[in-house]
Amino acid sequence: LLGLTREHPLPSTIRLAALYTCVLVVVALVAVTSVTAQSTNSPPTQNPTPPTAPPGTSKTEDVAPLIAAHIERGRSLWFTRLGSKNVSLETCDLGEGPGIVKGAFARLPRFFAGTDRVMDLEQRLLWCMETVQGRDMSAFVAKPFPGPGRSSDMEDLALFVASQSNGMPIEPQASYPQERRLRAAGEAMFFRRSSTMDLACSTCHAGETKRVMMFAVPKLDEPGMPARKTMGSWPVFSGRQHVVRTLQYRLKDCYREMRMPEPDYGSDGLTALSLYLASNAAGGIVNVPAVKR
Ligand code: HEC
Repeated sequence: LLGLTREHPLPSTIRLAALYTCVLVVVALVAVTSVTAQSTNSPPTQNPTPPTAPPGTSKTEDVAPLIAAHIERGRSLWFTRLGSKNVSLETCDLGEGPGIVKGAFARLPRFFAGTDRVMDLEQRLLWCMETVQGRDMSAFVAKPFPGPGRSSDMEDLALFVASQSNGMPIEPQASYPQERRLRAAGEAMFFRRSSTMDLACSTCHAGETKRVMMFAVPKLDEPGMPARKTMGSWPVFSGRQHVVRTLQYRLKDCYREMRMPEPDYGSDGLTALSLYLASNAAGGIVNVPAVKR
């Protein structure tokens, strides 16, 4: 389900060292621009690059203008005509009908009869970009996540769509057998120990609340406040790196910490895990993006 085909990436210490070097270079090179967030509902005409500021600050009020700019950029991307079919994503059905973003995120992942698949938000957006707009997304799929100073269309789009469910309860979908089967697969994956360290998600995220290094790790194996709060908080804004991060990224990173091969972007396995986590988060309130590390 995860499409585990790629080699394990560099050891985390080397990756971290490289990351900090990048951060320093980016901070040195990038001029700080001011923010003029649009607040209208009308489609903007361009996709402005979100402003950057020195990473490191993480107070919500400090980064609020940056977050607003990412959401506006996502909104602008949603309305931009692109691809061989030259259409905007307004023709994309996220489950509530073509072009409807309000409340769509709170009910994802869900079954889409047209594709005969259960999809999470990013899988569905990717599908719409490739099939509805006719875009070649292979370069994106090969390197999907943003880095310091480099924002990502997918992350900004996902944040825009998710923010249109803010204040609404998470409603995990289970009316189709396909949804129930995938949730069961996600549950099995959550408890399955694997790889050289014999870890499962449940090693860190089940039973008594654990701490890894100095971080309290949320308990995600049963319905409750920790699962609700966690699932209502993604996509997040990284206060340390000043980029938007989606749940696909977080799950990929937890697999890395488990010394597992990197799961494929948009794999059904990641959707299975999200559906399982969402099922423990029913009734949690969407409130994105949370500002996290
Ligand atoms: C070795 C321990 C460990 C394992 C195993 C692990 N995680 Fe995590 N996970 C963490 C830590 C530590 C964090 C918090 C990171 C931080 O604060 O930056 C985290 C964060 C998360 C979050 C976000 C929590 C939040 O507060 O927003 C989710 C969701 C998550 N993990 C799911 C999983 C899933 C699913 C698996 C199995 C595929 C898994 N994790 C395996 C340690 C682990």
